[in-house]
Amino acid sequence: MPRRHKIALIGAGNIGGELAALAAREELGDVVLFDIPEKEGVAKGKALDLEQNGSVLGYDSHITGTANWDDCAGADVVIVTAGVPRKPGMSRDDLLSINLKIIRNVGENLKQKCKDAFVIVISNPLDAMVYELKKVTGFQKSKVVGMAGVLDSARMQLFLARELGVSIKDVRPMVLGGHGDTMVPVTSYCTVNGVPVKTLIAKDKLDAIVARTAGGGGEIVKLMGTSAYYAPASAAIQMARAYLYDEKRLLPCAAYCEGEYGYKDLYIGVPVVIGAGGVEKIVQIELTSDEKAMLDKSAGAVRELVEASKKL
Ligand code: APR
Repeated sequence: MPRRHKIALIGAGNIGGELAALAAREELGDVVLFDIPEKEGVAKGKALDLEQNGSVLGYDSHITGTANWDDCAGADVVIVTAGVPRKPGMSRDDLLSINLKIIRNVGENLKQKCKDAFVIVISNPLDAMVYELKKVTGFQKSKVVGMAGVLDSARMQLFLARELGVSIKDVRPMVLGGHGDTMVPVTSYCTVNGVPVKTLIAKDKLDAIVARTAGGGGEIVKLMGTSAYYAPASAAIQMARAYLYDEKRLLPCAAYCEGEYGYKDLYIGVPVVIGAGGVEKIVQIELTSDEKAMLDKSAGAVRELVEASKKL
């Protein structure tokens, strides 16, 4: 009989809570919701609420709240949201110094307790945080990945569907690059079930969607006073499921490049295949010269942030 999977969620805040709800509802495995001692009550309370939710909805996942790293030991999947979210007017990069310390602490503990896990990082600034986490843990590049492209693509998918008046299910988006203002909506690969969107939409409308996608997170921060959590959680769960069920999904994720797209020693959003081996490969696609130039610019911005974090 196959054993039950264990999913450790590091950070029991807005995204952590939603991750727990989705993981339980989809019965991906048993869930451990971890937070710092000051928030242990919140983690335990959310866990209990979600277990009771299982009685109503009929799922059988066990959910535990904790501030003890031992409870995370042996997790198959770890999803990291530990850190502070943005407030209105802040960029993701403004979070660097605070979240870097937190990620280093999380990395040290994962190294001890979760050495075989597939680790998905959500904390921002994403590309620098996932780089740091791989560095601190020393885990293989296939087992440490950042969630950004699935979310950014989801935002673009929505805006395109609404503009074109078609079902969201038929829109195939693709957003690469860093998870910040320089992200690259790759319009040459965006289709409505194979029909290039460029043939369906006026250039000015498409440009507006590209701009709205890049500022998609900030738009929500401005409205709510904190960052989004439903779509970010769903995006990470899609990646976790691809690993646990060896789905071989082709998804845009922040992956560690060692020469792919001309980038070395850098985490950046590229198309990858996720299966039982984790990030099984980085798929190299042809980009137009404009798109490659945008990706290079984005890689430059990520590299600057990584260099800044080395000094902190
Ligand atoms: N270990 C574990 N959890 C921690 C640690 C730590 N060292 N430090 C902070 N946390 C916890 C906080 O106590 C908080 O409960 O991380 C949680 C973060 O939750 P929220 O403040 O609700 O933030 P959330 O919206 O979930 O976003 C988390 O993801 O998208 C990014 O920009 C966002 O960096 C932010 C992160």
